[in-house]
Amino acid sequence: MADIRNNFVGIKSPNPFWLASAPPTDKAYNVIRAFQAGWGGVVWKTLGEEGPPVVNVNGPRYGAIWGADRRLLGLNNIELITDRELQTNLREIKQVKQDWPDRAVVVSLMVPCVEESWKAILPVVEETGADGIELNFGCPHGMSERGMGSAVGQVPEYIEMVVRWCKANTRMPVITKLTPNITDIRKPARAAHAGGTDAVSLINTINSITGVDLDSFAPQPTIDGKGSHGGYCGPAVKPIAMNMVAEIARDAETRGLPISGIGGITTWRDAAEFMALGAGNVQVCTAAMTYGFKIVQEMIAGLENWMDEKGHASLADIVGRATPNVTDWQYLNLNYVAKAHIDQDACIKCGRCHIACEDTSHQAITAMVDGVRHFEVIEAECVGCNLCVNVCPVEGCITMEPLAVGAMDERTGKPVSPVYANWTTHPNNPMAKAAAE
Ligand SMILES: Cc1cc2nc3c(=O)[nH]c(=O)nc-3n(C[C@H](O)[C@H](O)[C@H](O)COP(=O)(O)O)c2cc1C
Ligand code: SF4
Ligand code: SF4
Repeated sequence: MADIRNNFVGIKSPNPFWLASAPPTDKAYNVIRAFQAGWGGVVWKTLGEEGPPVVNVNGPRYGAIWGADRRLLGLNNIELITDRELQTNLREIKQVKQDWPDRAVVVSLMVPCVEESWKAILPVVEETGADGIELNFGCPHGMSERGMGSAVGQVPEYIEMVVRWCKANTRMPVITKLTPNITDIRKPARAAHAGGTDAVSLINTINSITGVDLDSFAPQPTIDGKGSHGGYCGPAVKPIAMNMVAEIARDAETRGLPISGIGGITTWRDAAEFMALGAGNVQVCTAAMTYGFKIVQEMIAGLENWMDEKGHASLADIVGRATPNVTDWQYLNLNYVAKAHIDQDACIKCGRCHIACEDTSHQAITAMVDGVRHFEVIEAECVGCNLCVNVCPVEGCITMEPLAVGAMDERTGKPVSPVYANWTTHPNNPMAKAAAE
């Protein structure tokens, strides 16, 4: 059986599945239920500084988008950090850690961007016996208006400064949680690295408005006729999160920096993909909020089964395995040729591939052949774009088949070259031409 025990910056957990800082980790009651269900660790709902806690709205704090089957695809929230007393949280964290010593208990923190505030909170968190801290530089609403959360996460200099303060004032491992509401994720990651962070975690939520009520003309979720942007998460954000994880994993300045992957993870496969791109473990929020804590059992069993099937003995065998295969567009092999192929037995003759290719691609799929409704790829026109695969409602019905080296590409009239050739040396590339002259 594959060994899925996780050691993330020295924090050990029986599996790589942690709950992200959010409502699932808001209090001992939830965390205990999560541990009973099998979660390897939690990042406790973000704590603020001593004093009166923040207040949340008293109406809808969530918005969503759904697929055609009403499956939740994206969740938006306008919730703030914990609205419970600091001392209550600290007491519960201490007790939970004592009772569950084999699970990871990391505490998320967000206090004003002054050294005194960080110096004050770090020892009291350390005293709970927590395994580490996560710096919340990500919340994109409410807290950011008060100069915290993403207001810090969007300024690399601030990130570096706060990480330095934390590293100087605690012995706990520091995980810096990044906001995706930024143009180039490598900049905040580099800043956290420069400040001495032990790891980064990402992504926090994305600025969003999920809907507008067309009777009241108010954004949703609506509070007394008004709405504000919230933070977007769930399956819809996974591609954005994975790209950001890969960007950090392959950046020369941050290569090797441990990453905790977050964003839309719902299944073991999602988790494995994040880890393959360089995440040392993963955190989950929306999936637990949608399906409950027991989904972790599916994740554990699925990951173990897949690893057994593929002969991966431990997580080290998969973490970062896909990172070297992420490259810039300019290095893709322009001599690689693939063509769409339709499995006639699987085809239900709905015509979607034809209309997509006919109207918006390369007019490479028939609709009628000899007066009969028939969908077939015209190889001489197909550019291998993959659009038909993506719009076909029958999974596996259309596949992309690479042409073998030497085979004739009927579209170009040339055989497939064995030579790898990319844009950097292509004759149409003005830069390459200039360099050659
Ligand atoms: C209702 C809600 C509250 C959240 N509160 C926090 C928070 O207090 N601190 C934090 O770092 N992230 C917070 N998050 C962000 C999550 O930890 C996580 O980064 C994000 O939801 C992406 O993961 P997911 O797609 O699995 O949900 C919150 C998310 C939701 C949905
Ligand atoms: S791969 Fe693109 S060009 Fe080829 S048949 Fe499909 S949609 Fe048309
Ligand atoms: S979209 Fe798929 S099922 Fe529909 S006609 Fe094309 S190949 Fe057949």
